Amino acid sequence: MIFTKNPLTQRPADYSAKARALVTEMTLEEKALLLSGDGWWHTHSIDRLEIPALSISDGPHGLRKVEGAGLPTSVPATCFPTASALASSWDTELIWQVGTALAEECQAHDVQVLLGPGVNMKRSPLAGRNFEYFSEDPLLAGKMAAAYILGVQSQGVGTSLKHYAANNQEFERMATSSNLDERTLRELYLPAFEIAVKEAQPWSVMAAYNPVNHVYATENSLLLRDILRTQWGFEGFVVSDWGAVHDGVAGVNAGLSLEMPGSGDYLRSKIIGAVHAGRLSPAKLDEAVVPLLTVILKAKDRKRSGVAFDAGNHDALARRAAGESLVLLKNSGGLLPLDFRQIKTIALIGAFAKTPRYQGAGSSQVNPTRISTAYDELLKLVDKNTVVRYAAGYTEEGTTTEDLIEEAKQEAKAAEVAVVFAGLPNSYECEGFDRSSLEMPAGHDQLIAGVSAAQPNVAVVLMNGSAVTMPWAENVRAILEAWLGGQAGGGAIADALTGRVNPSGKLAETFPLRLEDTPSFPDFPSRIKEANYGEGIFIGYRYYDARKIAPLFPFGFGLSYTTFAYSGLLVGATVVKETDGVTVEVKVKNTGPVAGQEVVQLYVHEQRPKVVRPQKELKAFAKVALQAGEERAVSFQLMKRDFAYYDTVRHDWNVNPGKFEILVGSSSQDLPLRQTIEVELTKQDCAPLTRYSLLKEFENHPKGKAFYPQLAEAFGLGNPDEADMAVRAFLDDMPLYKVCAFSEGKFTEQMLTEILKQVQ
Ligand code: BGC
Repeated sequence: MIFTKNPLTQRPADYSAKARALVTEMTLEEKALLLSGDGWWHTHSIDRLEIPALSISDGPHGLRKVEGAGLPTSVPATCFPTASALASSWDTELIWQVGTALAEECQAHDVQVLLGPGVNMKRSPLAGRNFEYFSEDPLLAGKMAAAYILGVQSQGVGTSLKHYAANNQEFERMATSSNLDERTLRELYLPAFEIAVKEAQPWSVMAAYNPVNHVYATENSLLLRDILRTQWGFEGFVVSDWGAVHDGVAGVNAGLSLEMPGSGDYLRSKIIGAVHAGRLSPAKLDEAVVPLLTVILKAKDRKRSGVAFDAGNHDALARRAAGESLVLLKNSGGLLPLDFRQIKTIALIGAFAKTPRYQGAGSSQVNPTRISTAYDELLKLVDKNTVVRYAAGYTEEGTTTEDLIEEAKQEAKAAEVAVVFAGLPNSYECEGFDRSSLEMPAGHDQLIAGVSAAQPNVAVVLMNGSAVTMPWAENVRAILEAWLGGQAGGGAIADALTGRVNPSGKLAETFPLRLEDTPSFPDFPSRIKEANYGEGIFIGYRYYDARKIAPLFPFGFGLSYTTFAYSGLLVGATVVKETDGVTVEVKVKNTGPVAGQEVVQLYVHEQRPKVVRPQKELKAFAKVALQAGEERAVSFQLMKRDFAYYDTVRHDWNVNPGKFEILVGSSSQDLPLRQTIEVELTKQDCAPLTRYSLLKEFENHPKGKAFYPQLAEAFGLGNPDEADMAVRAFLDDMPLYKVCAFSEGKFTEQMLTEILKQVQ
């Protein structure tokens, strides 16, 4: 893909060497000064050493450069679709382009680090910031984030990957500990960060507000040092989320480099005091300063003066991105695209047609350069003789009245087709609180019910940042999920309604039928400051698969104005070693009448897992553009990690040898192509035997099995194969050390030690 070759993404090592040299010239006061911001949006400059200030702004789907504290008006900037929309495009190249445009706007406004992307998992569809996050699947979120970061950073502007880690609810977000087991953390909540760090090296990572297993993310050396830096090779600096620092000295000791916003002399004096008192070593202090200084020096070099961005071009890109993110959920009888050769009168119903909901509230709120509405854009695209009628149908808060519904019904009746715009009002989705229900406002549901009773040809266009329920889904002919499509979302909707854009998005999150079906129900958001992730590795489609719960619309689902056929699954080998990669090739053909794009999805299913595993997991995907009738081959490469689970005994990824099924198709529920392969281990990789190992583990161990008869005999069973079923089970599940007692001391501690020596 083009973005991997961009020369600006290459990492010059010399900034770090320069930073290491510079830090030796800094006084303790200067180091402490650097580690806490200068106000809300800058780091301190140190003129004596020509260290400039770094200018930092939100993010993620547009630049929000503000002056001062809080959330006042920011500079006009392009508002791109929010992350839940962008992820539905499944188009990494598009995200990369959005990234480059975001960076150009940063350069134009003298911003060196953009606070995004956000990759937290959608543990519950109720989470208040889901609109700012990509997906319920770590691979998809990680790939989107990597493309975004590479795009932004290719233009000499840094990113801040957030919110690290397990930041999955808004309720009491600064105080609620996310409590999760090691495997759940490694398999679900870390991989999106891991992929983004390994593939794209963000200039910074933002440590979240919440504690993880009772240790604040900003002080969590397991997360910040061991995993992020040592295991993943992160080279940038760690910044706190705004106000996420508790014990700043503990933070610096754990690997935090920058407190934001700055706390004046508060943290500075604590750092100086801690160094004097020996609670913070000079080496640890330098370890925090160097990565920050490295980025400051790099940003200084990459800063371009006189950059102006073309707001028109960026708006056009925003419209394209919104168009690629549209998910066509239903289209009975091919109602869409609307055939304006036949349609003389159309009714646009719902206030969102004229005052769209196009972004979420909170720190990501952008001051857009312009806003397009579906109503205005459709008027521009249809013939001037086409009559476009309109009724608001509901209030800003989403309530309605009999009169508003009656008016909407009359407008709908007077037309040949009605398009109802509905979704979630601003007050429903916002940083800082979670939703309490999956339902749209009653006024929106009632309006759709009313209009569909009056007009048989109804298409619903939805504007919402995360999943909603649709009690009216059976009664309308078409449903187009338009998300929070950014400032040009209205244009993209008009493009799709008229057929200029063929919807190609796929759901990056499951739409459940009801709240009671969701994985973390009923304990979401968790209260009493403890969020216990009891559902473990089962969120999103992993959960619905395991429980056999049919969702309203499954993960990966999305229709098109054309159709696609899958064939020719070709897997490189039927038996592979875990050290080999395996190639998978598949053919996809556009079998319908118009050009379109298909997202080819590959999932892996382990047939007889040793540990509990999801039924299938997404391991690769590709978006393919195809003319009508065109066929193309798509190929993927699977590696060991694609078959692995996180082994909590070894604290590492591990493959259980055996049969794996490779499933390919157009959604998590439509995987027509399947092939089974056998994965073999290159070396017999058994867990080491200890005095606590069970006797059956000796029996199954290549070296241990020689001792099994001796152990059985010591227990009193001459021939275990002839033993009673219950006695045999008792023996097999017995830990080694117990044989000493059961043999009344005949099997000695010395014999036990000797055996253990021989089986290592
Ligand atoms: C949010 C971050 C944001 C920061 C700066 C925090 O409240 O959680 O996502 O980047 O504020 O506005």
